[in-house]
Amino acid sequence: MKIAVIEYRKTPPKTAQELIEAIERKGHTPVYLKAHLLDAKITTRGVEVYHGPNPVDVDAALMRNIGLYLSPDTFLKRIGVIEALASKIPVVNNPTATLVTRDKWRCLLKLHLTGLPVPETLVTENPFSAMRFTNEKKKVVYKPIIGSLGLGGTLIQDPDISFHITRSLKNLGLPSYYQEFLEKPGFDYRVFVVGDRVIGAMKRISSSWKTNIAQGASGVRVEESEAPEVFQIAIKAVKTLGLDYAGVDVAYDLNTGKHYILEVNAFPNWEGLRRATGVNPPEIIVEYLVEKTKK
Ligand SMILES: Nc1ncnc2c1ncn2[C@@H]1O[C@H](COP(=O)(O)OP(=O)(O)O)[C@@H](O)[C@H]1O
Ligand SMILES: [Mg+2]
Repeated sequence: MKIAVIEYRKTPPKTAQELIEAIERKGHTPVYLKAHLLDAKITTRGVEVYHGPNPVDVDAALMRNIGLYLSPDTFLKRIGVIEALASKIPVVNNPTATLVTRDKWRCLLKLHLTGLPVPETLVTENPFSAMRFTNEKKKVVYKPIIGSLGLGGTLIQDPDISFHITRSLKNLGLPSYYQEFLEKPGFDYRVFVVGDRVIGAMKRISSSWKTNIAQGASGVRVEESEAPEVFQIAIKAVKTLGLDYAGVDVAYDLNTGKHYILEVNAFPNWEGLRRATGVNPPEIIVEYLVEKTKK
């Protein structure tokens, strides 16, 4: 089988390289495709996808990072071209499904509308709405609506700071995203789901309120028997969003005694999870894709 790995960098970054090696180990042929070099055409013969001048000739594809800080137009083009590819062969994760998860708001909205627990959250372009929400909640987290690794997340207790942030962002043409602050017990959960099962989960423990591994948290393996509800929530979230695999962030709130989904990552890193649990996600993701392609 020829399996593509789609990225935007000249040479594969670590996660893409590990997928390439897993494809080789399983006896298949990896093909590295760069998102910006992909073209798609609607023709009388049907939909055609090219990488530079060459038709893309693969049996399946794994989509990873298609680019950072893209204009909306370029982002949509890259997703659209991969959607053209996904009309012909299995693409994991499904590009249309990743559109929702790239956007923290639409991701949580979809989860909430299917009955999954998410924190109270506001999306706005209005500095007064931001101020009122902070006043009401007392403690909120501002997050970039498209973001990762904990970067940019800001804990706010002063409504005027929210006013200031939202007004400044509005002047730059950007919206604001605020969430009630959950009082976590010093950790949250990262649950890694492939297909309809959890392949590994960890507690991310930190003295900081941000428990990303990239922000210095340490990961400790968690078994299903320790947190069955967290595992179930994560599996349901991935299914609801139509993803094939994902890293789901779930936090326990001491104030309400309940679990909440913070976000679902369709392009999760796995180094921290592998260190904590010993599982090797790229191996399992490739196995999953091969099985899906055979069906
Ligand atoms: N509403 C919240 N209450 C308390 N902590 C939060 C909240 N939202 C995020 N965090 C902390 O910040 C981390 C990063 O937030 P997250 O929504 O997962 O964005 P990112 O894409 O940056 O990982 C979470 O893992 C969690 O530790
Ligand atoms: Mg996160």
